Amino acid sequence: MGRSPSTPETRVAILGFGTVGSAVAHVLQAQQFPGVRLTHIYNRDIRRKRESERAAGLGADIVWTEHVDEVLQADVDIIVETIGGLDPIEEWLQMALRSGKHVVTANKQLIAYRGAGLLQLARDNNRALVYNAAVAGGVPVIPATLHGLQGDRITRLSGILNGTCNFILSHMEHGADYADVLQQAQTAGYAEADPTADVDGFDARAKLCILARAAMQVGLDPDEVPAQSIRSVSAVDFHYARELGCTVRQIARAELQGDTLLARVGPMLVPRSSPIAWSHGTENMVVTTGDFGGDVVFSGHGAGGNPTAVAIVSDLLAVAHGSSSVALPVRDCAVTGEFLAPYYLRFIVRDKPGIVSAISGALSGMGANIDSILQRPGYPKEALPFVVTTEPCLTSVVASAVEQIARMPTMLEPPLCLQMLTDDARD
Ligand SMILES: NC(=O)c1ccc[n+]([C@@H]2O[C@H](COP(=O)([O-])OP(=O)(O)OC[C@H]3O[C@@H](n4cnc5c(N)ncnc54)[C@H](OP(=O)(O)O)[C@@H]3O)[C@@H](O)[C@H]2O)c1
Repeated sequence: MGRSPSTPETRVAILGFGTVGSAVAHVLQAQQFPGVRLTHIYNRDIRRKRESERAAGLGADIVWTEHVDEVLQADVDIIVETIGGLDPIEEWLQMALRSGKHVVTANKQLIAYRGAGLLQLARDNNRALVYNAAVAGGVPVIPATLHGLQGDRITRLSGILNGTCNFILSHMEHGADYADVLQQAQTAGYAEADPTADVDGFDARAKLCILARAAMQVGLDPDEVPAQSIRSVSAVDFHYARELGCTVRQIARAELQGDTLLARVGPMLVPRSSPIAWSHGTENMVVTTGDFGGDVVFSGHGAGGNPTAVAIVSDLLAVAHGSSSVALPVRDCAVTGEFLAPYYLRFIVRDKPGIVSAISGALSGMGANIDSILQRPGYPKEALPFVVTTEPCLTSVVASAVEQIARMPTMLEPPLCLQMLTDDARD
């Protein structure tokens, strides 16, 4: 990298001076780690950033630039990427690795979709590519599974990997309306103006794929994992969930059964006794289950500038101290969203005699057995919500029955079908 090997300094450049990138700069400035120096900050329209409040107090000798080549060609040891997205970031990071720079990134979409190729390139160039901040922000679940749990055989992981959905659902649990709490999350900066990636499960799905690779050594393409939106969950579901001893959370789960990986993201009923149900606000939580070590629970701040910056700075310190990317023997697995699980089905109907037997007929016709029927008093008969739970059955079986039930003329809304986590699944 152009300097004498006796120079003990690690030179760091940050790409992207937004929420996370500016927090990384401030953590580095505040901590003054010996031998680590922030030399470059790159962002488009850099003057605006240079003159912003977030730039106050940073080193006067930092080069601020809006020309990425200036950073990629500079005498820098580690590039910290905090811009996000796939293009042109992948190409920039390829150039960085080829020119002998290590890379630390928080970019989950990039690692989930293009991580395998980038990790290979890093190895080919004897450089590190580290991405522990990409999953669960400040909760070190990736390094813990890569290093602390390598001795186990992890067969199951489940958790809350999207702080925005957890904020929304945990507030709805206490009576908030979906639209109001989404707006509150947007005002507080937890949710984007377009919340699709969060609420429809794509963000959690990318993180689940990265985590499954680290914990279970399986290559998992995000597009193979079914993702269900939380948009259809409403207040009534929390009432019924409570009667069932549960609450509702967006869960990302993966389970290895032989050579098949079961994976799914979506709102699910979670027993209130489960640690996952205890997470509130933007918290993240992950439970891993190993054949030898049993359950391990991780929780903490899954997002936000400072918690994520801690994960990034920890990564860059590890790289500065000589740590390299962990080369995992990743194997291919058949991937399916077919879980054998109990299901919660909520219907809004125009009440008529015979409706329950029609629904139970549709379910039993497909091979799904009803476990319970719940109907709370006080709702109008012209738009009556009621709930059926099933005994454990396959996802496709219950989906076919629900498709048939949705066509019944008494249905006023598409039925809501949520997987139920059980204590048996040790979630
Ligand atoms: N925020 C979190 O809590 C969190 C947690 C974990 C991981 N992450 C990941 O961290 C990364 C950054 O997230 P963030 O929340 O910090 O986002 P952000 O606040 O939007 O920051 C992104 C920065 O990159 C700049 N930028 C965007 N496109 C660019 C381009 N083509 N060229 C140059 N600069 C560009 C933006 O500039 P403008 O100001 O001009 O838009 C902005 O300063 C993402 O990969 C995200 O998934 C974030």
